[in-house]
Amino acid sequence: MKEEVVAVKGVVLAGGLGTRLRPLTAVANKHLLPVYNQPMIYYPIQTLVNAGIQDIMIVTGGNSAGDFLKLLGNGKAFGLKHINYTYQEGEGGIADALSLVEHFASGEPICVILGDNIIEGNIRAAARAYRHQGGGAKILLKKVPDPQRFGVPELEGKHVLRIEEKPATPKSEYAVIGIYFYDGDVFDIIRTLVPSGRGELEITDVNNAYIERGEMTWDELEGWWTDAGTFESLLRASNLVAQSGANKMEMRNAAEVSVAR
Ligand code: G1P
Repeated sequence: MKEEVVAVKGVVLAGGLGTRLRPLTAVANKHLLPVYNQPMIYYPIQTLVNAGIQDIMIVTGGNSAGDFLKLLGNGKAFGLKHINYTYQEGEGGIADALSLVEHFASGEPICVILGDNIIEGNIRAAARAYRHQGGGAKILLKKVPDPQRFGVPELEGKHVLRIEEKPATPKSEYAVIGIYFYDGDVFDIIRTLVPSGRGELEITDVNNAYIERGEMTWDELEGWWTDAGTFESLLRASNLVAQSGANKMEMRNAAEVSVAR
């Protein structure tokens, strides 16, 4: 049976300097580092493809940006016919990286995934639910033992009241994971943002703007989730992938994947 293609465009954000992983990232882009048996960026791309998303843009930047093209080519290893690429100059943050895909999105709904976010399960149901929502935004939440490391929602039943970025005193046990669904308004919202204390345009500010408009929904992610941007989480990511049966079923065998040259 032919796989259903979900009418959402996909964006993988794979720029940044990866400062928390120095010296591993002194030369290599963080998203090219190994997570068990695959380069990190394979996982978010596969997450989009597993959700039925086939029109994908990679936003890269920082070190060894050209190596993404060499590694991924046109996405044959993922069953894709084509991959789009763009380049983020400087260190403007996640929302700044996202602003570069306005032309690619051309007003259509997008699913944005941070290049260091790895999940066990499938976001197909969330992508479908977002399509039926007919606009606005959707975030995915996961209960974690250390919410202060992430964006943390304050919840009231099914409503998210506000998200705080790395709060000292988290208002819930949930992290906002790095997979977001947005409509075409996201680019207008980004144009209104001002840099945060760390000098970046924050994705949390984008999400709070949708919350203020009353246009944000959330789902709880099933299965494990991890980021891989620190030494601890990079090791955890490798261990989770290595132990996960899901990886063996969902991911193509690394040996089958030929590097485009
Ligand atoms: C980013 C977001 C944060 C989110 C996290 C998920 O944090 O700012 O809200 O919870 O990704 O991985 P960063 O990894 O850039 O510190």
